[in-house]
Amino acid sequence: MLISSELTKLPAHVAIIMDGNGRWARKRGLPRIMGHRAGVKTVRSTVRCARELGISVMTLYAFSQENWGRPPDEVGALMDLLVEYLRQELDEMLGNRISLRAIGDLQRLPEEARLVLKETIERTAGNSEMILNLALSYGGRSELARAARRLAEECLKGRLRPEEIDEDVLADRLYTSGLPDPDLLIRTSGEYRLSNFLLFQAAYSELYITPVLWPDFSREEFMKALEEYQKRERRFGLISQQHLSSCTARGS
Ligand code: FPP
Repeated sequence: MLISSELTKLPAHVAIIMDGNGRWARKRGLPRIMGHRAGVKTVRSTVRCARELGISVMTLYAFSQENWGRPPDEVGALMDLLVEYLRQELDEMLGNRISLRAIGDLQRLPEEARLVLKETIERTAGNSEMILNLALSYGGRSELARAARRLAEECLKGRLRPEEIDEDVLADRLYTSGLPDPDLLIRTSGEYRLSNFLLFQAAYSELYITPVLWPDFSREEFMKALEEYQKRERRFGLISQQHLSSCTARGS
């Protein structure tokens, strides 16, 4: 499919809750892992599409902290898929100047996944066209608790005063430090939940929820989400007129 030249106002950061792999497989009488395998193909095509469009950051919820509670064979299969994906994508990431990042409690990942992830992050670190950010063993609440712990430690060590703590200081201690907040948050498979994803960062994200299951989330579906985003008026808590004049003042 041709990328629509109509797309003008693109989100800088798109975050996606990739849901529905299990249901996709069940509908076809296949084991759940086949749904995840089909989901990896969608990851590949969506990242490609985002890169072609010039989206700067894409964060994918690939494995939540809660997902550790799934049956061990499913967890193992997801970890194997992650390793396979990273190995297969390295050349494309290098060719397309995509830099890989990961957020979450990465120490919990099996050693092989940790090593491949570390190597891919290091080898792609110099790339500047797009950041692909994988949320792995990620939970928004524990990310906030970790940031609070860090702030407390810095205060105890005398490096920070409690009155200096504001939203930016807190944001700097999150895994996403240095990344813009997501402008658009997509969730597939029709559930109306954040599921512990980017709780702080998604405060003003535009939400787009589609009933389409993740393996069926084609480039066309992605374009629909972007087109819908373009129709939204983002006011960040202001009234229309105020927001328009603050944009004009900032030259945006
Ligand atoms: C939710 O579907 C999806 C996940 C728990 C994992 C997402 C993983 C992938 C798309 C593949 C691996 C990703 C990478 C980047 C290699 P679900 O299993 O909860 O579906 P269901 O709600 O229909 O059961």
